[in-house]
Amino acid sequence: MKTLFWNENKLYLLDQRKLPHETSYVICADHRAVAAAIRNMVVRGAPAIGVAAAYGMALAAMQNRSSSIAGLLAVLQSAGNELTKTRPTAVNLRWAIEQMLAKAKQYSAESVAVITTQLISEAETIAAEDIKINRSIGAHGAALIDDGARILTLCNAGALATAGYGTALGVIFAAHAKGHKVSVFACETRPYLQGARLTTWELSQAGVPVTLIVDNAAGLLFQRKMIDMVIVGADRIVANGDVANKIGTYPLSVLAAEHGVPFYVAAPLSTFDLTLSSREEIPIEERSSREITHIAEVKITGDEISVYNPSFDLTPAEKISAIITEQGIIHRPDRGKIAELFAK
Ligand code: MRU
Repeated sequence: MKTLFWNENKLYLLDQRKLPHETSYVICADHRAVAAAIRNMVVRGAPAIGVAAAYGMALAAMQNRSSSIAGLLAVLQSAGNELTKTRPTAVNLRWAIEQMLAKAKQYSAESVAVITTQLISEAETIAAEDIKINRSIGAHGAALIDDGARILTLCNAGALATAGYGTALGVIFAAHAKGHKVSVFACETRPYLQGARLTTWELSQAGVPVTLIVDNAAGLLFQRKMIDMVIVGADRIVANGDVANKIGTYPLSVLAAEHGVPFYVAAPLSTFDLTLSSREEIPIEERSSREITHIAEVKITGDEISVYNPSFDLTPAEKISAIITEQGIIHRPDRGKIAELFAK
């Protein structure tokens, strides 16, 4: 089951809102449909929304009616702005759009048709590269996982959150493929339930033993020494190694530190934002109160209650044992080590 694919000049997105009960695709024929699909969570997960946005830019080029290069570049800029606004925390979105704009500018001495063709092929490259990168993250990260490891994860950082294979789950898939008998505790991930709906589905399909827990059971599992390590993904990693990821990540990092359990973050280099110095500068997406007041379509609260629904939280670098990237593992991440990685 592919998270997304390009077919006959349209982008097909697996509708993650309907999983695991129904597998159907939303077909996007223009960048506005892609922006809506990202905003509405048809596609989610930092790398996946980056790849979807890249295809959105290719669609914007195909829909462009201006015959001048300047006109096309203006259309792309405006489509890029629209796509970037859909989800503010995951920086992969901005990264992919910048890649696409740079590609368009690189061919600005050519024709509108050449730029459009180049943009379609660039989106295909970004998608294919994402899978390769995830396999490489998996290969590096698997070295950290002992046979028999019991791993705690949150949200979904699997194939569904990327073009394929996954980051945090990619590491688990790689350890499993090596023959290690790993097992996973998946936090349900209130309020959107990515863990309950998506991570349990993905791991079960891959034959990795998975047990679902409510988010607030994590503390007891640590006390009972049922967790050997935590592995999560990331939506943005800033210059000092602080990480934004799904709401609930930070408390897990505090629990892991308290109980002397390693806390790993798996993410591609496109998730790093070196323009920001520390976590305070990361924008946190706030989502609709309905995600909390309702479960599926059923209202569980009284009327007119006040709700605060931040979708991500911030984990300080000091709480992170290592960040696993496609270039290798950064143990005890800090500003110097991250600068060194990007200087290569
Ligand atoms: O709101 P979501 O489902 O897009 O949040 C996803 C996460 O927080 C993931 O952990 C992160 O994007 C990394 S996915 C490889």
